[in-house]
Amino acid sequence: MISVAIVGGTGYTGIELIRLLSAHPEVSIDLLTSRSEAGMRADEIFPSLRGISDIVFSDLGDDTLSALQKCDVVFFATPHGVAMQQAEALTQAGVKVIDLAADFRLQSLADFEHWYQQTHSCPGLLKSVVYGLPELNRDKLAGALVVGNPGCYPTTAILGLKPIIEKQNEQAVRLVEPRIVIDAKSGVSGAGRQAKLDLNYAETTDNLKAYGVTGHRHLPEIEQGIEQLSDEKFIHRVRFLPHLVPMIRGMLSSIHLEMTEAGMAIDWQSVFENSYQQEAFIDVLPQGRYPDTRSVRASNRLRISVYQNNQRAELTVIVVQDNLVKGAAGQAIQNMNVMFGLEETLGLNAAPIVP
Ligand SMILES: NC(=O)c1ccc[n+]([C@@H]2O[C@H](COP(=O)([O-])OP(=O)(O)OC[C@H]3O[C@@H](n4cnc5c(N)ncnc54)[C@H](OP(=O)(O)O)[C@@H]3O)[C@@H](O)[C@H]2O)c1
Repeated sequence: MISVAIVGGTGYTGIELIRLLSAHPEVSIDLLTSRSEAGMRADEIFPSLRGISDIVFSDLGDDTLSALQKCDVVFFATPHGVAMQQAEALTQAGVKVIDLAADFRLQSLADFEHWYQQTHSCPGLLKSVVYGLPELNRDKLAGALVVGNPGCYPTTAILGLKPIIEKQNEQAVRLVEPRIVIDAKSGVSGAGRQAKLDLNYAETTDNLKAYGVTGHRHLPEIEQGIEQLSDEKFIHRVRFLPHLVPMIRGMLSSIHLEMTEAGMAIDWQSVFENSYQQEAFIDVLPQGRYPDTRSVRASNRLRISVYQNNQRAELTVIVVQDNLVKGAAGQAIQNMNVMFGLEETLGLNAAPIVP
């Protein structure tokens, strides 16, 4: 059994990790931390866990690190800046680290420090870190000690663009114009569980708003993913605009591109179907069908549709996922499965919940 610790078990991604890992046949959750609820059983805070997990929250203070070092893998479901304080000591003890925050997502230190407004405490570790998008970096994940689990929006954006960029590389000719517009929407759980005025019920219900209009932290991560996928000669500029929608879970990103003449000669539906036919968690919908967020709720699936209009040179990709699962905890477990040589889908096969 893989001995797992979760740091930050009282947050939304933390409880998702507990829910999913409790059903994982190769995992034992041996340590769950919270500073605010130490000593409480998790199922007292989250009755949904009654009969599923009897684990108790710990706050071990100065002894936390030595307790974490006894585990095989530590998931950090914490705010940005927490995992990097402990990652070096953990990896030196041979413990694998999966950070759901942004400490290890960006390879550029300057980008990290600009967008997250903090100094990185272990820049030396960054070179060996793997960006945890299995559909992109599966081979590298197998030997990884530290994984930066992707942000929720970048998961939809990068996987929505991957078949297009790879096809463009393969044809060695521009198939889409450089400008990419990503219009994205997230449910409120994307902002975490802490109380904030602008996230309370009366502020978010029956309301819709854009945020991060002048710039959002996920933009450099999306650009980094696109850069990794693209041949050097193809540069893409991204306009990314997220919105908060009055639902609890779910994320939908519409990606707008303009095809070149060469791009219009491509059958994009087939390109997407071929590109993802081996991927267990990516479902390319048949032509003419478009995904909704509830078709993926509480599951690790990501559904994509592609619409091609040659009269207008428009190519539109629509991607949905559950921000807490494929966008966070489920993807983290998918990464763990690859890192430990397990079947990638283990513990992640539950069907979405409808209604
Ligand atoms: N929500 C999403 O959809 C989503 C998607 C992708 C990625 N993420 C990222 O995943 C991380 C967790 O997100 P979340 O939504 O679960 O957040 P959250 O609901 O606010 O939970 C944060 C957790 O971290 C703990 N914590 C806070 N400060 C800490 C510290 N200094 N040291 C140790 N523990 C600390 C909190 O517990 P105590 O205060 O009890 O210790 C709590 O359990 C964030 O970095 C977020 O950006 C979230």
